[in-house]
Amino acid sequence: MSSIATIDIAPFLSQKSKLWKNDGIRSLMALESTPGIISLLAGRPNSSTFPFESITLKLKPTLAGLPPATAGADPFTLTIEGEDLNEALQYGMTPGAPRLLDWLTNFQTHVHKRVQDGSWKVNVGSGSQELIYRTCDSLMNDDDFLLIETPVYPGTLGFLAALPCTLIEVNADAQGLNPTHLETILSTWDTTHPGKRYPKALYTIPSGSNPTGASIPEARKIEVLKLAKKYNFLVLEDDAYAFLYYGPEGQQARSYFALEVEVNAEKGRVVRFDSFSKVVSSGMRLGYITAAPGICNAVALITTNTSLHTPSVTQVMAYKLLAGWGPEGFLAHCAGVAAFYRSRRDMFERVAHKHLSGLAEWATPVAGMFLYIRLRVQANNPDADTAELMRTKAVAKGVLAVPGTAFMPLRGPTPFVRISFSIIEEAEAEEACRRLREVILETRAEAEAAMRTT
Ligand SMILES: Cc1ncc(COP(=O)(O)O)c(C=O)c1O
Repeated sequence: MSSIATIDIAPFLSQKSKLWKNDGIRSLMALESTPGIISLLAGRPNSSTFPFESITLKLKPTLAGLPPATAGADPFTLTIEGEDLNEALQYGMTPGAPRLLDWLTNFQTHVHKRVQDGSWKVNVGSGSQELIYRTCDSLMNDDDFLLIETPVYPGTLGFLAALPCTLIEVNADAQGLNPTHLETILSTWDTTHPGKRYPKALYTIPSGSNPTGASIPEARKIEVLKLAKKYNFLVLEDDAYAFLYYGPEGQQARSYFALEVEVNAEKGRVVRFDSFSKVVSSGMRLGYITAAPGICNAVALITTNTSLHTPSVTQVMAYKLLAGWGPEGFLAHCAGVAAFYRSRRDMFERVAHKHLSGLAEWATPVAGMFLYIRLRVQANNPDADTAELMRTKAVAKGVLAVPGTAFMPLRGPTPFVRISFSIIEEAEAEEACRRLREVILETRAEAEAAMRTT
């Protein structure tokens, strides 16, 4: 059997990541759980002075029609009191509440079939957004390049603009990231970027991408992973929509994190980001990173110096919910949520076909909450840009959708707009598509009139 290599993370870390210092208190906190130890360590407030007696959460039956999460006398009530309340209201550990981390570690083993062998670990953060930012901050130096799936979630573009790295767009299509384009970029690197270091990492959104809705098939992931090994870059797998898969049963691609050992016989190249935002609550601000300890520790070092830790209240809430469900219960809940979005997708597509046939095109997503629609505003030019039109005419007509340029790292023109079908009801969807149709028809008529007069 060939041996599995664990890649060395140190050369990937930025200069800045090495400058943060441990604060001398938090780094000792792990010792407090040593049996018999008396801790005079942290300046914790005495929680008996806090004004809360308990926190009671009323649960709904899950969308999957499952029994509720808790096994208590009233299974619809989740109560946080006593030691749980103390934990929820008190300062906590920087990487996350230990029992939540244990739960998530077991969950990752369950979902991605990765044994717990010390080559990876899980940390939580205030949303995956924070973890993605802190990871990029821990990696990027002045002369570094970051490969970025394009179009891309603009929540990354704002902070990447402030980081000292150069973005290299890698095209995505209806099947997600295009490995052929990735290979072209890398195989011509020495010519296009003479004397420059090869890109350090690739940022990609593999499932139900924001904005394209595309999910990359496993075969493409394998190609990407092989390129990652060949050209020695990390894969930043932002899988915020992983649990919103509603395509054919049994056909969801395995994650990059699951595949890296099998494909490359190595561990540590994939940095995975998960989020509770789309399946439990976005306001709880809870996400988790699964990565080589060197990466998690670099991220935690920023956390320890900036926000100390992720809020304990939401961590305890999440833990109580998840511990009641167990991994299978959580997955069943997620399947119920995904089925909800499938029916929203079906509704929106039905309405869009009715009003936009021949005027717009899109690929049907199998995950997530977005349609990425190409508006045909010029009959003879499928690539005509639609940004200006969406900002002016569409708004004037009373319909808002995100112009595709917002998702282009280098702000290139695009005929696409992103629509979100997550919270819209049928009557409003119908009216929105009708208004979009008017916008397109009027724009076409103006373009044709302009052509006639020239
Ligand atoms: C692709 C992608 N990644 C990350 C995030 C941030 O998620 P979180 O709420 O976990 O910070 C979002 C939010 O919409 C997203 O679309």
